[in-house]
Amino acid sequence: MSESAEATVPITVLIVDDEELLVKSCGQILSSEGYTVFTEGRGRNALDSLRRHHPDIVLTDLMLPDMDGLALLKEVKRLAPETLVVMITGFATVDSSVEAIRAGAYDYIPKPFTATQLRILIGRAAQQVRLVRDNAHLRDQLKKQYSFENIIGTSEAIQKIFSMISRVAPTDANVMISGESGTGKELIARAIHANGRRASRPFIAINCAALPDHLLESELFGHEKGSFTGADVLRRGLLEQAAGGTFFLDEISEMSMDLQAKLLRVVQERKIRRVGGDAEIPIDVRWVSATNRDPDTAVREGQLRQDLLYRLNVVPLRLPPLRDRREDIPALAQHFLKRYSQEYERGQLRFTPDALRVLTEYPFPGNVRELQNVVERIVSMCLPGQEIAPVDIPDELTVRHSGNGRPALHFNADQPFHDAKSDAISVFEKEYLRDLLQRHGGNISQAARTAGIDRKTIHRMLVKYQLAGRDD
Ligand SMILES: Nc1ncnc2c1ncn2[C@@H]1O[C@H](COP(=O)(O)OP(=O)(O)OP(=O)(O)O)[C@@H](O)[C@H]1O
Ligand SMILES: [Mg+2]
Repeated sequence: MSESAEATVPITVLIVDDEELLVKSCGQILSSEGYTVFTEGRGRNALDSLRRHHPDIVLTDLMLPDMDGLALLKEVKRLAPETLVVMITGFATVDSSVEAIRAGAYDYIPKPFTATQLRILIGRAAQQVRLVRDNAHLRDQLKKQYSFENIIGTSEAIQKIFSMISRVAPTDANVMISGESGTGKELIARAIHANGRRASRPFIAINCAALPDHLLESELFGHEKGSFTGADVLRRGLLEQAAGGTFFLDEISEMSMDLQAKLLRVVQERKIRRVGGDAEIPIDVRWVSATNRDPDTAVREGQLRQDLLYRLNVVPLRLPPLRDRREDIPALAQHFLKRYSQEYERGQLRFTPDALRVLTEYPFPGNVRELQNVVERIVSMCLPGQEIAPVDIPDELTVRHSGNGRPALHFNADQPFHDAKSDAISVFEKEYLRDLLQRHGGNISQAARTAGIDRKTIHRMLVKYQLAGRDD
């Protein structure tokens, strides 16, 4: 990793001191040098901030109102051993400076100090941080090159995705992943992060479909104290918390057009304003987004802003549905079999070739997630060491399927018409519901909206057909 590329991930400094003037001027000096700066006046808050922002460097006074600076130092070393701590020491406290170094401080700076002294000292610490980052990065690169440990697949389609990830991950390009529900979009997003130069920084994901607009906005941007009822403390948003890392916008086309406009500004200007705040706060994230719709169709149907798509879709990754890459099914099935046989303590289980064939023939409308659930269900019913044959595979996978991937209609013409009809309706209702819920990850409200029926009806059918769903 070249120095210039690494330099694009800013170094964060947390300044802890109760002297507001000193905090402010140190903050200004360091911000103008390109550091991302957070400040706190108390030791307790500093520890919260440490957990949240993972600063590279902590600059703290030895005397804090609520805590001894040395105690803070020790706590920082315990929570985040790689964070460098620089102590600000008062006049004539040589002993405590020595003690601080002994306790693991990187260096100390006696008060009063000049801007230049501060710049030089923090500059030296920053160099140290970069060195450690570079090393960690090299190690990771060696380990991960061409191997995406937990992503299984030998099909040409998946191999293409692997090669795209390895080319695109180390760049900072924004990636938009599209694919049906359960095809592995989040898994790919994480792999892009893990194989990129932001790997040691946070990966933060938000599901745009999961929250109403106003909550989503304050989740993303944070809010100032008192900006709305219930906002009794200042909260930094997820975008601030992702500093230097990757931000995963899941189900992007579910975001309101209004919020999409705000997001567009953030992506373009790399700055945010907290809800109820005026200050512009720089943010530094790489954007990875996902949608289970075709992005261009979503634009045409007015669910996704064209200009936002243009910004986020620098590199498009399309994940094909599992039914279009059936050669991956056996390897995936074996992978999940191994995992769940350990989890359920079933010893060595294996599929018979016929069982694998049955799995490979099923169209998996819920894609890899459905396959995973099916294997888990099979394993949970197995005896230790058992061989898994077609009879052990749930019925709904073995009924004949019509060309469009849906189960063909079965009936027995010897049955009275009304009985046959009500059986057929039951089969239809069950299949429809299963499919619907799979598409919505089990979310009943979303499923109800799409199907145009009310939630109570869904609940009633869930009970009748012994299916699972969740209310959230
Ligand atoms: N190629 C793969 N190898 C191993 N596991 C996979 C693969 N693809 C998907 N999975 C697993 O399948 C499940 C679903 O994947 P993931 O959550 O990434 O899908 P998704 O596309 O984000 O789905 P949704 O649109 O419903 O959010 C996860 O448990 C994931 O680990
Ligand atoms: Mg997902």
